[in-house]
Amino acid sequence: MRATFSLLALLLAAPAAAQHPGPDDHKHEHKAHGEHGAKGHKHGDHATMHRRFDDVEWAKKHFEGPERAKWQKPRELVAALKIAPGATVADLGAGSGYFLPHLAEAVGPEGTVLALEVEPSLVAWLRERAEKEQLTQVVPVLSSFDRPRLPAEAVDLAIMVDVYHHIDGRKAWFAKALKTVRPGGRLVVVDFKPGDLPVGPPKGHKIPAEQIKAEVGSAGWAFVEQLDLLPHQNVVIFRRPPAQAD
Ligand SMILES: C[S@@+](CC[C@H](N)C(=O)[O-])C[C@H]1O[C@@H](n2cnc3c(N)ncnc32)[C@H](O)[C@@H]1O
Repeated sequence: MRATFSLLALLLAAPAAAQHPGPDDHKHEHKAHGEHGAKGHKHGDHATMHRRFDDVEWAKKHFEGPERAKWQKPRELVAALKIAPGATVADLGAGSGYFLPHLAEAVGPEGTVLALEVEPSLVAWLRERAEKEQLTQVVPVLSSFDRPRLPAEAVDLAIMVDVYHHIDGRKAWFAKALKTVRPGGRLVVVDFKPGDLPVGPPKGHKIPAEQIKAEVGSAGWAFVEQLDLLPHQNVVIFRRPPAQAD
């Protein structure tokens, strides 16, 4: 009887653990830019990496390292997007807030930067950072794993940097994201290129640009262009079709 109960408890617990591994996974650290404690599986989306980023100090240390700017080029990337002053931008999976100062500068004092995170500890840190750095335009948002938790048509441009390979059920996720962006608004996906790189996730989690285009396109987004700007990451830009009906 006890054995049956234990087996049942294990079976019930297994899917949740597989979906969002806990802090124990942090011990398998690798490489500079820091996906630590990586686990992936290939049912559902190809090459989705499941892990948590709830350790704020770890995130600050690894996402804000001095070497990152050399290959991440945040100023050049944000400048290339030509964001209009006053715009509302969503940083989907903002992490420790690496891009926030650049996005806040781009939207200016009248704009808004919605900083989405699924980790409550990071959301609290994003508020603290916004206060410390007087980024008055930044609005931290506690998002869900299965959807960006935003109102319909609230956003002019959504950007996600190094988050794509963590998203589960990408077609459904990007279909929900589509509704949060105004018709004609843009989505910018920045993620690691396949191949040997000095930074980024393990091999199986580096997703070819063509796959990103196919997956995001299947969710209703129109591919616009791919920027040849960063050495280690693809930059793929989409638009919500202007005539898209909900
Ligand atoms: C590798 S970090 C990148 C952080 C930041 N964009 C940067 O470039 O420094 C990935 C982040 O995405 C977040 N994340 C993972 N799955 C997510 C989801 N479904 N929705 C929103 N954020 C997610 C994680 O909590 C983590 O902070």
